[in-house]
Amino acid sequence: MAAIFSSRLLLFFLFTELINVSFAAGFSIDLIQRDCPLSPLYDPSVNHFDRLHSAFRRSFSRIHRYNPQKYSTLDSPSSSIIQSTIIPGSGEYFMNISIGTPPVEVLGIADTGSDLIWTQCKPCTQCFMQDPPLFDPKKSSTYRSIPCDSSSCSKLSSQATCGSVENSCQYSYSYGDRSFTRGNLAAETMTFGGTHHHPVSIPSIVLGCGHENGGTFDESGSGLIGLGGGSLSLVSQLSKSVGGKVFSYCLVPLSDQSLHTSKITFGNSPSAKKSAISTPLVAKDPETFYYVTLEAISVGEKRLHYKNSSSKVAAEKGNIILDSGTTLTFLPSGFFEDLVTALEEAINAERVSDPSGMLSLCFKVDDGDEQIPTITAHFSGGDVVLQPLNTFAKMEDDMFCLTMVASEEVAIFGNMAQMNFFVEYDLDKETVSFMPTECTKH
Ligand SMILES: *[C@@H]1O[C@H](CO)[C@@H](O)[C@H](O)[C@H]1NC(C)=O
Ligand SMILES: *[C@@H]1O[C@H](CO)[C@@H](O)[C@H](O)[C@H]1NC(C)=O
Repeated sequence: MAAIFSSRLLLFFLFTELINVSFAAGFSIDLIQRDCPLSPLYDPSVNHFDRLHSAFRRSFSRIHRYNPQKYSTLDSPSSSIIQSTIIPGSGEYFMNISIGTPPVEVLGIADTGSDLIWTQCKPCTQCFMQDPPLFDPKKSSTYRSIPCDSSSCSKLSSQATCGSVENSCQYSYSYGDRSFTRGNLAAETMTFGGTHHHPVSIPSIVLGCGHENGGTFDESGSGLIGLGGGSLSLVSQLSKSVGGKVFSYCLVPLSDQSLHTSKITFGNSPSAKKSAISTPLVAKDPETFYYVTLEAISVGEKRLHYKNSSSKVAAEKGNIILDSGTTLTFLPSGFFEDLVTALEEAINAERVSDPSGMLSLCFKVDDGDEQIPTITAHFSGGDVVLQPLNTFAKMEDDMFCLTMVASEEVAIFGNMAQMNFFVEYDLDKETVSFMPTECTKH
C-alpha cells in the first residue's frame, strides 16, 4: 500500500516536474524570411541575386530609424520614445502567431528595433491593405481593453491618451517615416505555434489594436511584433511565462532558405552551451536597441582597432547595435576604410566596382579559387570568428562583394553576419552570446 502510494506520489512529482521543465525551457517558433518560399511575399520569378539586391536596399532605408535626432516626429518633440522608420516590409522576418479566442492568425514582422506589438483591428477608420483577415476584437472572448490608469498604459507615456469610452487607453505610435498606428491598448491571449511546433497559449499580452494605421506597411503582414528591450516588447512580456527575459534565434543562411526555416526561442534554450562566447549588453537610451561593444576586427592575423572620427573614445561602450532586421553590417567610415585596405591586401583577385553602387568592395571571380580570409569580430569579452557567408556574398555569376558598408550615422551588426550562429540575448544577465551552429540542423 505504502509502495503504491509513494510511486503515485513519485509519478505526480515527475509529472509536475515535467510541466515546470517544459515551461522553463521556453518555446520556439519559425522566423519566416520574407523572400523565402514559405513567405506570402515569395516571388519565384525573382532570382537569388535580385533578392539580395532588394534586401541590401532595404538595409540602407532601415538604418535611418536609428537616428532619433534626425527622424523624431515633429508633433511630440518631448517624447523619449524613439521613433523608428518603417519602410515597406521593414524587417526581414515574419512571425506566424495567433491572437484572441478563437485564435486568429497574424503574420507579424519580427522587429528587434521596436517594442510595441500591434495588429490592424476592426472597425478600421484607416487601414492599409492586408491579405489575412482583419482581427475583430468583438469576436474574441478574451479581448480586454486596458484602462488608462493602468501601468501598461503609462509605459507608453506621451504616446498614450485617455479615451472617451470607458476610460480606455488609446495609443498613438509613430515611426520615423511618418508611418503610424493608432487604436486601443488591449490585453489578449496570444498563441504561438504553427506548422512545426506544439502551440503555446499565453493570456493577457498587452498589444495595440490598431484602428488607424498608415504609411508604408506591407499588405502581406498584419502588424508588427516588437522584440526590443523595452517593457512592452514581447520579450519582456513573456518573461514571467518562460522564466526570464531571454530569447535566442538561429538564422539559416540565405542560400538555404528554400528548405529550412530559421527559429526564434523565448526562454532558456536547451541549445545554449557554455562554450558560447558572451559579450555584455550595454544599457543606453533608448532601451529598445541591443547595444554591444566592438573593440576590433581582424583580417587573418591583422587586427584593426575600432574607430569613429566623431567620437573621442576609440571603442566607446555600446558602439554597435545588433539587429536581425538589417541584412548588411554598417561600420563607421574610417574603420570601414581600414577593413577595405586589409581585405584588398589579403584577397588575391581583381577588384571591380559594384554596378548597383551599393557595395564598396567587390572582386571578380576568376578560377573560383579566391581565398576569403577569416574575419574575426572582437567584441568585449569574446571573439566571434565569421565564416565567408557572414562577410561576403556572390552578387553576380562572376562577382563577390563584402556585405559590410560604411555608415556616418550608426553602426549595425546585421543579420548576414549572424547567420549560422545560435545568438542568445539574456536581458536579465545583460549579455548576448554567440555559438557557431549549423542552423539548418537546429
Ligand atoms: C501560419 O500558421 C497557420 C496555422 O498553423 C498555418 O495554417 C499557416 O499556413 C501559417 N502561415 C504561414 C505564412 O506560414
Ligand atoms: C560615432 O560616434 C558618435 C558620438 O558618440 C555617434 O553619435 C555616432 O553614431 C557614431 N557613428 C557610428 C557610425 O557609429
